[in-house]
Amino acid sequence: MLPDVCETRERLLQNKIVQIMKQGGYWDVIMDGDDSLARVKVFLKTLAGEIPAIVNEMQKPNVLPIFPGLNYRPVHDKTDYPWTAQLEQAYGVIREEILNVPSECDFLGYEGGLAAENMWSVVPMYYMGTPIHYFQKYCPKTVEIINSLQGHCFDYPWGDCLFSRQAPGSHLIAHCSVDSFRIRAHLGLDVPANCQMRVKNELLNWRNGEVLIFEDSFEHEVWNRSDKPRIVLIIDFWHPDLTLIERQALMAGFRKAEMRALMSVFRLGDHRDRFEHMLLTAFKKEDSNLDLTHYWPTADSLASLI
Ligand SMILES: [Fe+2]
Repeated sequence: MLPDVCETRERLLQNKIVQIMKQGGYWDVIMDGDDSLARVKVFLKTLAGEIPAIVNEMQKPNVLPIFPGLNYRPVHDKTDYPWTAQLEQAYGVIREEILNVPSECDFLGYEGGLAAENMWSVVPMYYMGTPIHYFQKYCPKTVEIINSLQGHCFDYPWGDCLFSRQAPGSHLIAHCSVDSFRIRAHLGLDVPANCQMRVKNELLNWRNGEVLIFEDSFEHEVWNRSDKPRIVLIIDFWHPDLTLIERQALMAGFRKAEMRALMSVFRLGDHRDRFEHMLLTAFKKEDSNLDLTHYWPTADSLASLI
């Protein structure tokens, strides 16, 4: 079982997130908003420690507290989502592109943590809310397909779209994601026998060309007990119970350049040297797409943070 309390590193990040929101004016904009933002207000007050966090069994997102009022469930029925059929129909095209990505491509170079050294690698199409053209150039048709999927959230900085490669004989230990705003789709691309995932108490098996949908805020772990690599495409979507206004408010809050810079340090850790400059440049440039006047009225005061 995972620990009930956030570690100091996560707590420090939470405090800094709240500090940036207050300094940039976002906090007051949300708190002064109408009832359509009621759940976002509760979420932010929970983040700041002003009210107790929601506690659900085996659902412990490790940075952002559980958002109130969503119907959380570890595994979703794929027939509830029209984009499932789109993805499964595109399986052949996606698989061909992904299997031709040079094998030395690896974004983070994980050296331990969730999996043993060199046992897990990822190739992101989007990362921290920005397109990674360095990898997208290998998969133009795949990029076009994923961008057409309704409800995706890889513009939101904790939303991902990436290829995940798990080495033979490896185990990704039990963990929870950073937030509870998303549902996660896996499209099996090259899946040997004897690969399995546990989400809360449910055991799932991938199949080539088929989609699995789960919430990674629930405790999950993954095994590849075969003698071949296991490759899946991972795509995040907004939790279906979040309203459009809530999605817009959360996106505006976490997409701010200074916020993403802070979150990148937390997420990339010692590996950030390879991509930090590219990411920070993109974050600043993409701020022009945010409604800064509305959500971040005192954003100028954040300029010194990056
Ligand atoms: Fe995970």
